[in-house]
Amino acid sequence: MPVTVVVGAQWGDEGKAKVIDLLAAEHSHVVRYQGGHNAGHTVVVGSERYALQLIPSGVLYPHIIPVIGNGVVVDLPTLFKELDTLESRGISCAKLRVSSQAHLIFPWHQSLDALYEAGRGDDRIGTTLKGIGPAYADKARRIGLRAGEVLNPAAFRKAVGAMAEMQNRDIVALGGEPLDVSAIVEQFVELGARLAPYVCDTVELLHEALDRDDALLLEGAQATFLDLDHGTYPFVTSSNPTAGGACVGTGIGPRYLTRIVGITKAYCTRVGSGPFPTELTDELGDKLVEIGHEFGTVTGRRRRTGWLDVVMLRKAVRLNSLTEIALTKLDVLDTFPEVKVCTEYGAAGEPVYAVLPGWLTDLGAVTDVDLLPPQAREFVSLVEREVGVPVRIVGTGAERDSYVIWS
Ligand code: GDP
Ligand code: IMO
Ligand code: MG
Repeated sequence: MPVTVVVGAQWGDEGKAKVIDLLAAEHSHVVRYQGGHNAGHTVVVGSERYALQLIPSGVLYPHIIPVIGNGVVVDLPTLFKELDTLESRGISCAKLRVSSQAHLIFPWHQSLDALYEAGRGDDRIGTTLKGIGPAYADKARRIGLRAGEVLNPAAFRKAVGAMAEMQNRDIVALGGEPLDVSAIVEQFVELGARLAPYVCDTVELLHEALDRDDALLLEGAQATFLDLDHGTYPFVTSSNPTAGGACVGTGIGPRYLTRIVGITKAYCTRVGSGPFPTELTDELGDKLVEIGHEFGTVTGRRRRTGWLDVVMLRKAVRLNSLTEIALTKLDVLDTFPEVKVCTEYGAAGEPVYAVLPGWLTDLGAVTDVDLLPPQAREFVSLVEREVGVPVRIVGTGAERDSYVIWS
């Protein structure tokens, strides 16, 4: 049965959640495979706007089993805040399952994230300060605490206390304020008890589903060019959002992946530091920020903006084995008299642009591909030709129903 992966093809915030919400209708499980509460995934349904950080974006459908896979790093206060908010809005999270192998984030990870960033001065990465890097670092140095450990409360209490003492020494050595060990122990023992009923062997759960021929949707956070290996290192996150990470982060082998959807905006954005060849630092960039509401869901930071870069997208196709593209936020370009697409880099690395006439039409109400203005059709066709894989979905607004099926 098909396993679909949804992966960001740029630097994040491409509209992955909206596409996942759209595809969830035809799947049984939505599984987050990496990242943590650095993600901000927005789904808009009528007048309701849901901003999800940890709980998979399929949760809005009663038939979906939302799964937090082994590759995710889980911040328990955020998880339960999100869960309580959803439940108070009438969305049940009773079917949520969390991998016993998923690593937990603790307050010391956040303290260290801030101290490391401060230590970098002008070279800072511009992280979300959620403790993501330090939590994955602890996983890699084999000292992390995992979700499954909450199932033995006495041992968990002891492990949290010992780890807090150890991490406090590092925090103090870096000039930070030591954390209150006993307060953290009490807080996390309580959170652990609350987590326990959701914890299971999700690898087993997902393979049982595959054996039943269920269709699974694997939800990436962050994006291809924030990938720890393939992104613009060191200006990256500390996990592997690329499609290979979907296998590692769920325990589903590559043989099962049938559909790999790369999500790209019709332009580019980036939040935090790092290279951005097509960046616009003029009033056109401001216009993209304003019309596209380009402010971070998690940190509120203004996103950097620029023209679409298909050189990056071609690389994203290779890195992820993309089978198709979903092109989002085309409507944000509605009022631009001309639009540009970077099709190659010149000898000095500068972007070389194809310049297209704008469509100067409100796409908001367009739900039929035949009603797209010819200039907009030409834009999508150019992207498809240049990238070399089919565009399937084109986003024409933030709402659940605002899209057209291109092919
Ligand atoms: P994600 O992190 O990739 O899930 O994306 P975010 O939710 O952080 O950011 C995408 C933003 O664009 C959200 O506010 C969405 O509601 C919005 N959005 C998604 N698709 C479209 C679209 O086609 N048009 C417009 N105007 N907004 C969209
Ligand atoms: P979604 O899933 C956009 C960026 C941060 C920073 C870098 C490292 O909503 O697309 P981290 O806190 O992960 O160590 O920060 O990665 N970043 C994101 N940018 N969207 C995201 O998630 C991001 N998650 C992290 O801004 O540049
Ligand atoms: Mg986001």
